[in-house]
Amino acid sequence: MENIKAYVQEHKDRFINELIELLKIPSVSADTAYSHDVFETADAVKASLEKAGCDFVEICDTPGYPIVYGEKIIDKSLPTVLVYGHYDVQPPDPMELWTSPPFEPVIKKTEIHPEGAIFARGSCDDKGQMYMHVKALEYMVQSNTLPCNVKFMIEGEEEIGSKSLSWFVERNQEKLKNDVILISDTGMISNQQPSITTGLRGLSYVEVEVTGPNRDLHSGLYGGAVANPINVLAKMIASLHDENNHITIPGFYDNVAELSLEERAEMAKAPFNLDNYKKALDLNDVYGESGYVTNERNSIRPTLDVNGIWGGYTGEGAKTVIASKAFAKISMRLVPNQDWEQITELFTKHFTSLAPAGVTVKVKPHHGGQGYVTPIDSIGYKAANMAYTETFGVPAIPVRSGGSIPIVALFEKELKSKTILMGFGLDSDAIHSPNEHFGIFNYLKGIETIPLFYKYFVELSK
Ligand code: BES
Ligand code: MN
Ligand code: MN
Repeated sequence: MENIKAYVQEHKDRFINELIELLKIPSVSADTAYSHDVFETADAVKASLEKAGCDFVEICDTPGYPIVYGEKIIDKSLPTVLVYGHYDVQPPDPMELWTSPPFEPVIKKTEIHPEGAIFARGSCDDKGQMYMHVKALEYMVQSNTLPCNVKFMIEGEEEIGSKSLSWFVERNQEKLKNDVILISDTGMISNQQPSITTGLRGLSYVEVEVTGPNRDLHSGLYGGAVANPINVLAKMIASLHDENNHITIPGFYDNVAELSLEERAEMAKAPFNLDNYKKALDLNDVYGESGYVTNERNSIRPTLDVNGIWGGYTGEGAKTVIASKAFAKISMRLVPNQDWEQITELFTKHFTSLAPAGVTVKVKPHHGGQGYVTPIDSIGYKAANMAYTETFGVPAIPVRSGGSIPIVALFEKELKSKTILMGFGLDSDAIHSPNEHFGIFNYLKGIETIPLFYKYFVELSK
């Protein structure tokens, strides 16, 4: 694999330009106004897989957005790597906070990315990381070094819950058969210290609606005499955490897998600087569940967060009104052994019970998924670590992430294989935020590292 470095150096401008073209298509899955662009992106991904050297590529229609499937089977007796990624992106709003338009990619230098980073929605999550795999395949095909079979499954609904992918995986177990699943849709500690994501949190996402009077009322004529749904909703939400920031839903922690002190001590060895963390976010202090440090709060502990809250008058000036309804979107991040459907039920039961007389409450579940943890003694983990060690010069550190890729637990259940999460993004890359970017260093390093994973995985499989 001596040549991969040289290959990347020789073709890097083209690699960057191809990614930039892909990033120009606004494949926002959450908003139907972009539906045409989401389909167009699937076509672009298909074309890129064909060009990179897949023998067979197809657009698989689903009840929702299509799944791009591609494969190169060189010998049925060799192992098969299944690459998963997503071509859909988060909505770009709030637009006014972008320093350049989200779908007009530009390269800018930052403190963390002195070699430049591509600024665009989806640059890191996940078009850029997904495309590293396409270019890694191109290299292996061009240099005749692909050591095993490869399948690609790139979906367009990850950011909205992967409904169609569940449907697809359940119906295509034979087609998707593999020995390991490889995903780049997470992050690493820093450009000097690679890490491998060994855990993802589960998720339950719900929307709540509190209704008071049957119409908006004059807040002077009625204020004080009827329940104000916004006041009530705020009170209900506030009661979901106690003074230690524990979640108060009965049964919520029942199945939480607690880590041993040894495991927590091991976790604490990962480099982390609280001052830098606060500085990066302009915070005067961190906040969270007592008894746990920041890196535990955001990975091994379950959480409950309001993602959006609305109701009443939010326009210019003042309007004196008691709204008829108030709403909130609430996510719960879950840890291994918590079942997202059970948690959704516990939430619904508890939240409904909190409603005082004078209002009615509705809870609408959106989507969810189970958490995931993967062992560090698997062949896949070892191969990934060997690959990182070679390209970064230091071994990777195992890290449990706070994010969710709910489909990973389903892969294990349906396809019976382990997932290796080789992420190349950084926390500071602002995924889901304005000014999302992906370092050129990270993009090229990913392309360099992936072929080594294949090499070592096949060697260790023998
Ligand atoms: N790629 C992210 C998840 C992620 C990012 C995991 C960084 C670990 C580190 C993924 O696209 C994502 O945003 N997932 C959603 C869940 C989904 C069901 C909407 C999330 O975590 O909010
Ligand atoms: Mn993603
Ligand atoms: Mn995402």
